[in-house]
Parts: sequence; C-alpha cells; structure tokens
Amino acid sequence: MSPILDRFDRPLRNLRVSVTDRCNLRCAYCMPQEEYRWLEREEVLRFGELSAIVDAFCLLGVDKVRITGGEPLLRRELERFVEQLSRRSAIQDLALTTNGLLLAQQAPALKQAGLKRVTVSLDTLDEAVFAQLTRRKGLSDVLAGIDAAAALWAGRVKLDTVVMRGVNDHELEALLEFARERAVELRYIEYMDVGGATNWSMDKVVSRAELLGRLSKRYGAIEELHENSSAPAERFRLSDGTLFGVIASTTSPFCAKCDRSRLTADGTWYLCLYARLGIDLKAMLRGGASTEQIAARIASVWGARADRGAELRLDERARGPLLDASELRTDPRLEMHTRGG
Ligand code: 5AD
Ligand code: SF4
Repeated sequence: MSPILDRFDRPLRNLRVSVTDRCNLRCAYCMPQEEYRWLEREEVLRFGELSAIVDAFCLLGVDKVRITGGEPLLRRELERFVEQLSRRSAIQDLALTTNGLLLAQQAPALKQAGLKRVTVSLDTLDEAVFAQLTRRKGLSDVLAGIDAAAALWAGRVKLDTVVMRGVNDHELEALLEFARERAVELRYIEYMDVGGATNWSMDKVVSRAELLGRLSKRYGAIEELHENSSAPAERFRLSDGTLFGVIASTTSPFCAKCDRSRLTADGTWYLCLYARLGIDLKAMLRGGASTEQIAARIASVWGARADRGAELRLDERARGPLLDASELRTDPRLEMHTRGG
C-alpha cells in the first residue's frame, strides 16, 4: 500500500518503539541529572499491547520498526517481543538500538527471535572516559556485546558515537579504526539539544564540517556517497574503502525527509523528537478501541503533521538547552531516554 503523507508530504514509514524508560547508564548527553521521574509501572504497556499498537501503524504503511529504550535489554524477555514483531509480514526491517552492556548474553536469543539489525552506542574506547561519560562501569561488556553482535549479524551492525568536544573528540580516529577492524559501520552523531541534554551548548558540538576536516587530515581525501534514502546518516568513504556515516542533526537537520515517529513505553506517540506533547494511544487501546480505530486516529494525526523541530531550533539565536531540569521533571516523556533516541 502507499503510505500516508503528512503536510510536507513525508510518509509514515518508520516507527521507534521504546520498551522501557529505564537505563543502566547515565550518558552525559542524555541523562546528566542525578534524579529522574520515571514512568509508572502500571502505565508501561505489556508486549501484547505494544504489538497491537504496532499493528495499527503497519496498517498505515509502517514497514521499519526499531526497538529502543532507555535501554531495551533491561526489559525482561525482550526476545518474546522481537518474536511477536518478526511474525508481522508488514515489517521489512526490525532493528534494535542498545548500549551494549547486556548484549553479549542476549544476542543469540534475539537473533533466534528474528531481530534483523543492531545498533550499539559506543562513544569511547577508554575506561576512564567511559566512566566519566556514563557515570557507570562496563566498557568491556559493551565491547564484548559488539563482538557478539558482529559475529551474529555480519554486515548489519552499526556503532553510534555522539561526539562531545572535550569529552571524546580525541578518539574520532580510534573509534573509526575499531569499527573498521570489526567490519561494522561507525556513525558520528552531532551532540543535540534535545530534552534531557540539560548541559548542552553549541561550543560542545563538533559539526560535520569540523569532523570531516579532522578526519581528512589523518586519512586524506574523503568521498561523499550520494544516496537517496530517508536514513539520517550521510555516508562517506575513505580512500582505503572504509565507510562511515555522519548524522548532522544539529547543524544540518533532516526534518524535510523525516519519516519517523516514536512510541514511548507507556503508549504515547510523538511526531518529533522536539515535540512537547504526544498522543495518548494507550488510553484508546485500554479503552477497548480496535486496531482499525487506532489506525484511523494515527492517520488523521499524521495527515496534520507539520513538525520540523530541529530546523526551527536552527533559527534560534543564543541557543541553549531545550528544557531545564525543573521543566523536565514535570513530564517524564520529555526526556530523550523515554523517547528512545
Ligand atoms: N545528542 C545526540 N544523540 C543523542 N542520543 C541521546 N541523547 C543524545 C543527544 N543529546 C542518542 C544517541 C545514543 C542513543 C541512545 O540516543 O544516538 O546513542
Ligand atoms: Fe546512555 Fe542510551 Fe541510557 Fe541515554 S538511554 S543514558 S544514551 S545508554
């Protein structure tokens, strides 16, 4: 079927489903505060409920689903959910984003359940930087997780690196070489001023232009691959053939092509990472609405979608964090770790 379009002709194809807002790390770009307000346990949807909402999206043309968190591997028996989704013929692409800590032990069951691709967050290769950046221990577990994934999903593993000036930007080359050795693709992500990033400032952002300049000093000419895809990463190639991606969401937003939206673990649907308000699909579901009724609601909301949050932020002078800690505490869904990155 042809997908439904929003006010800027963007299709609804890509759904990110958060299965928990809990996390076992405290990354500085995502969870810099000491205390958080969490979703209430009884508000968090069961797998069957999440699947029912996903079905409504699939009726409307969604064919790419990514499971996110918080840290999704903290959700018990996640492989049961993966298995439910992998039985949906509408879903062409079923992926997972994880911080990797628990991946080595869970990878075989996830693969068995039908997971097609894995993205692991990896910001540093240095124990001390890891401890500083995430306020937790466990880099060796993350690395073991990456190796386990690379063995099971050859050619289908990506590493995401959020680059922060003065924190991990001295490791750009080491991270690229680490990825190349394992035949996985590294993607550098510009530090974003999303909800949750209360310490964000423009001077900590290493822009795509600066990043490419630094890499070409070390590796020589970099070729840009011109691909026509809705994926946010632009891809580049070093002269030795190494591929990598850059997600320049801060300095060069891709709102014009954005076909993604996000479902939080409590069934609230967000049309944009920067949106203040979401649509409560849980209330419909628990109120007894059918898949078709939920799909009709989704279609009417998507048809009116005009969000382009990152582009609007570009126009703001004196840009600082999107929200401060006291605002964030009013609603746990304003946080990036609840919306699934
Ligand atoms: N800037 C950029 N990316 C972020 N993520 C979370 N917070 C930010 C931020 N402030 C993304 C990263 C991370 C994933 C879990 O969420 O890609 O790897
Ligand atoms: Fe880090 Fe991801 Fe956890 Fe946020 S949700 S603290 S980015 S591991």
